[in-house]
Amino acid sequence: MSDFVKVSRDGDVAIVIIDNPPVNALSFHVRDPLMHALVSLRGDVSVAAIVIACAGRTFVAGADITEFGKPVQQPDLRALIVTLETIAKPTVAAIHGTALGGGLELALGCHFRVADAGARLGLPEVKLGLLPGGGGTVRLPRLVGGVKALRMIVSGTPIGAAEAHAAGLVDAVFEGDLTTHAVNFAREIARKGGPFTPVRDRDDGLKETDLRAFDAEAADLARKARGLEAPIACAQAVRNAVTLPFDEALAAERALFVTLVGSDQSRAQRHLFFAEREAAKLPGKDTPKRRIARIGVIGAGTMGGGIAMAFANGGYPVTLLETSGEALQRGLGTIEKNYAVSVSRGSLTEDAKRQRLAQFKGSTDHADLAECDLIIEAVFEDMAVKKEVFGKLDAVAKPGAILATNTSYLDINEIAGSISRPQDVLGLHFFSPANVMKLLEIVRAEKTAPDALATVVDLARRIGKVAVVVGVCHGFVGNRMLAARGSESEALLLEGATPSQIDKAFTDFGWPMGPFQMGDLAGLDIGWRNRKARGLTAVIADTLCEQGRFGQKTGRGFYLYEAGARAGVPDPEVEALIRDKAAERGIEPRAIGAEEIIERTLYPMINEGAKILEEKIAARASDIDVVWVNGYGFPIGKGGPMFWAGLEGGARIVERLEHWFRQTGKDVFKPAPLLKRMAETGSWETDATA
Ligand code: 3HC
Ligand code: NAI
Repeated sequence: MSDFVKVSRDGDVAIVIIDNPPVNALSFHVRDPLMHALVSLRGDVSVAAIVIACAGRTFVAGADITEFGKPVQQPDLRALIVTLETIAKPTVAAIHGTALGGGLELALGCHFRVADAGARLGLPEVKLGLLPGGGGTVRLPRLVGGVKALRMIVSGTPIGAAEAHAAGLVDAVFEGDLTTHAVNFAREIARKGGPFTPVRDRDDGLKETDLRAFDAEAADLARKARGLEAPIACAQAVRNAVTLPFDEALAAERALFVTLVGSDQSRAQRHLFFAEREAAKLPGKDTPKRRIARIGVIGAGTMGGGIAMAFANGGYPVTLLETSGEALQRGLGTIEKNYAVSVSRGSLTEDAKRQRLAQFKGSTDHADLAECDLIIEAVFEDMAVKKEVFGKLDAVAKPGAILATNTSYLDINEIAGSISRPQDVLGLHFFSPANVMKLLEIVRAEKTAPDALATVVDLARRIGKVAVVVGVCHGFVGNRMLAARGSESEALLLEGATPSQIDKAFTDFGWPMGPFQMGDLAGLDIGWRNRKARGLTAVIADTLCEQGRFGQKTGRGFYLYEAGARAGVPDPEVEALIRDKAAERGIEPRAIGAEEIIERTLYPMINEGAKILEEKIAARASDIDVVWVNGYGFPIGKGGPMFWAGLEGGARIVERLEHWFRQTGKDVFKPAPLLKRMAETGSWETDATA
């Protein structure tokens, strides 16, 4: 017996309970006593059957991720499963909550699996840059078939108990006290008598696998992997399970796992797993939270509509305010259209659509916001307009209501200082489309009350957002670093790179698209208007906008778009324009390689990240990574800009920045003191409690 694994008896059925909060991960201190318990029960003639269950909120959620990269302490998971499979009496996994990764693999080592109706089962290792390393790729297809196993393992998405039952992964689904049901199930099976076949010796699923269909699906999935190694390895491992004898496939799975676990990509993805959870932690976790029942959103444009949908999708009623009935109807119409698209794609039922639409209450009267507990404005990006809106909120909002702005750049301290309750003001910077994008930058202003902040961090999780708390500065974390990244793109064009060369360097790096493809998609006029308001210029982009080339929406931008096409083709007119502008400036075009493109765009971005840390705008380097991966498509296999800086080597980055500073004299290339210290120590010295 141990604190983490307890054995009890219900007549001749032994019940092994794993109790390792919070998620019953299979740490060494669980594996060791579990092995002893299994060996002892195997030889105990008074035991007719064994049930493995878990205490707390979930079945085993996987191997202990914190142990990866360290020497393995025996017994490892595979040894546990081998031992399970030597037990001649029936073994039953009783699954509630989630059986994930090594947890599901442990359950696959049992003869039978029973599940609570609300349970979810999956092998999400791919999301950590891994494949299931405890025999999951070899055993799962034996129950559910090769194609279904391929889909589950390559996507990493868990399935519900009912689907698992239909697929043959689970033998029975129960409601009510699962352990009691599992014990009765085990006793009944034992009474009927064996022999009981371990999953490794079953071939139900394998027989029905059509290898041609499998290969077609695997090829499709590989195309979508975008440079990630794990999905390809997952597909290979499942194919081995279908085509090779069990032991050979298992050995191949192990070899692939060992390669992946030592790879930079997996280290990066594991870093992001913990970074996302850290980012949501505030000092003083017991800070009380304010009650949030109804949300107010001001402005039903691009952002306001999406923000309202994000809350309605999370189950919150929303009051949506516009300046006129016409603008309101337009906004509500767009929301309805968006839900209709989801219905037509099959991701939402007609019923759910009706329920969500019923959450909205439109209004043109500020007095209607008096019943809201959190009000978010998403009106035009103009300080005078924002202040006017906050002045009205000051007059009508209930005491203690949280007043938030979705501003991209404006000074939230100034907005807060313009009303009588600055303690209730903060920034909620959503990303477009706000109902889809996971990231939420929560901006803490100078006077924001801790309970207001704690409330929105909690609320963000409830509506499925990944929250990062940041401080006030121009552009906060994401847009400020984006500006640093963008500053050299124009210069590279003028010096001889084409838009498609630059975009290709980005997509080869792993970004979903490059800066010019992104600009064309978002609309070049947005940046143009922004620059004009701030007295800035970008000669190529400005000229394109003057010619009415706003990107995809006008069919022409940096690229040309055939009617309805989303992918652009290079436009000789744009290339001629770039050459003319370069000639006007006396710049002689030269060949520019991908390495230079990456150095001159991404290194300044990391440099800006270092300044953000120095100024304590972000609390941790990993928070910056969370922003960039979830808000801007930074490749997950590289772990975010600050993690990637570690891979790239701080010393190299400083040396190249200094080189470009000497060449250009531009401030973006002047290494920040913190970056220089990181180059010496190899790590970002940040104090998360600051
Ligand atoms: N190992 C170590 N710690 C883990 C963990 C794991 N497998 N899973 C979760 N944790 C930790 C989290 O870091 C967090 O710690 P914190 O409180 O100190 O921040 C805590 O447990 C609670 O986690 P969440 O905040 O994520 O809790 P939720 O209730 O929101 O979600 C969950 C629960 C769905 C189980 C989610 O934690 C999850 O998806 N976990 C990872 C599951 C996974 O990837 N399993 C596969 C692991 S790899 C593996 O098994 C390899 C094998 O094939 C050999
Ligand atoms: P938008 O122009 O699409 O929508 C603004 C809406 O606000 C319009 O429908 C307008 O009628 C309404 N409005 C203006 N003044 C109002 C008032 N006093 N009361 C009620 N409604 C009013 O603008 P968009 O793009 O939605 O931007 C809104 C805010 O969100 C800006 O601050 C912007 O910087 C920020 N933002 C924009 C992002 C984007 O990608 N578009 C991303 C993140 C933030």
